[in-house]
Amino acid sequence: MSQPAPSAPAPVRVAVIGAGLMGREVASAFGRWFALLDCPVRPELVAVCDTRAAALDWFRQVPTVSFLDTDYHALLARPGIDVVYVAVPHHLHESIYLDVLRSGKDLFAEKPFGIDLAAARRVRDEAVRLGRFVRVSSEFPFLPGAQRALQLAASGSLGRILEVRSAFLHSSDLDPSKPINWKRQSQYCGEAGVMNDLGLHVAHVPLRLGWKPVSVHAQLQKIYATRPDGRGGAAPCDTWDNATLHTSAVIGGHPVPMTLEMKRMAPGETNTWIFEALGTDRGVRFSTKEPKTLWTYRREKEQVWEKTDLGFGTPFKAITGSIFEPGFPDILMQMWAAFLAERAGLLGDRFGCATPDEAVAQHEVWAAALASQRDQAVVRL
Ligand SMILES: NC(=O)c1ccc[n+]([C@@H]2O[C@H](COP(=O)([O-])OP(=O)(O)OC[C@H]3O[C@@H](n4cnc5c(N)ncnc54)[C@H](O)[C@@H]3O)[C@@H](O)[C@H]2O)c1
Repeated sequence: MSQPAPSAPAPVRVAVIGAGLMGREVASAFGRWFALLDCPVRPELVAVCDTRAAALDWFRQVPTVSFLDTDYHALLARPGIDVVYVAVPHHLHESIYLDVLRSGKDLFAEKPFGIDLAAARRVRDEAVRLGRFVRVSSEFPFLPGAQRALQLAASGSLGRILEVRSAFLHSSDLDPSKPINWKRQSQYCGEAGVMNDLGLHVAHVPLRLGWKPVSVHAQLQKIYATRPDGRGGAAPCDTWDNATLHTSAVIGGHPVPMTLEMKRMAPGETNTWIFEALGTDRGVRFSTKEPKTLWTYRREKEQVWEKTDLGFGTPFKAITGSIFEPGFPDILMQMWAAFLAERAGLLGDRFGCATPDEAVAQHEVWAAALASQRDQAVVRL
């Protein structure tokens, strides 16, 4: 006779608004949650909303999904939803995020957390007023290499920090025949353009380390002014494509040059996330270009760069063998595990997701960068 199973804690019931690229990744992460060994909380995707009915069809194969809505107000009115994940174009962030909060649910928000600084502040302040748990999606720091780089940078063992580089680089926009989409138009993506699109990925680790820029000199580039509109014509492409921010951060009491790069046109780079911090004694460099390689520098009689092969050293343990290498779906799952564990007060000393304050702080940097570009000047924060 088999023993009755011990009663499992009730799952956290999650709904998704925005069933595009990211909405489906979330369903996929939840669908293999049993791969995690030590996450104290289990999610269940129960409802999905998208204005495009066709986008909802894919979710019919997800057994836990009971409700498919084309109006997000209908989804928010449903009982039995604990958390809403919203992945919609940036011009809709503020109104939908505020409606989620006011419906009594917690929010996992997509970056950049509002189309601009003012929107981000309004959402952050409303979440505080209502006492909701809110975090913002940024998954790359959950890679083992990023975790190790972060730990080393935070350890104080680098000596006096000399320079920092954080970057996120794409290249598919180099193709001028790539059709326009909402991320390439300011009215939907926001005036900050590529900084809105890729910026939190770049700012998350420096901000967590307390390395917020105190000044910014920005070089922003618009490269192709139009793109095919998909109907035989051309549409304006008016967002900043590449952003290189020469910033200064105060680290250990000293001003340190910190370069933040967000690029849609970086030749040869498909989805490359880079973090590098060099100090007088040690240094660290991690790039998704070499996803299982951690480079560390140490100064001895001779100067040494060492290469460490990393395994599956994610914050939450998984069934995956310790020598295997993780990828995007794994870190998305790790990020969700951190969100749910922190919401339940069970994160412990693991790395937590980006906070609303960090999302507001990144917008402060992007606003300063826009002012720097406009005035061709260094802007103080
Ligand atoms: N964390 C990451 O790595 C990552 C990657 C890509 C995109 N994003 C972010 O995710 C968000 C969405 O980006 P995406 O690439 O998934 O976009 P997408 O265009 O693939 O999907 C957006 C979806 O939202 C739907 N939508 C639009 N208005 C809606 C409404 N009023 N109600 C319900 N659904 C609506 C659209 O029909 C579409 O299916 C953005 O904030 C983007 O910056 C994050």
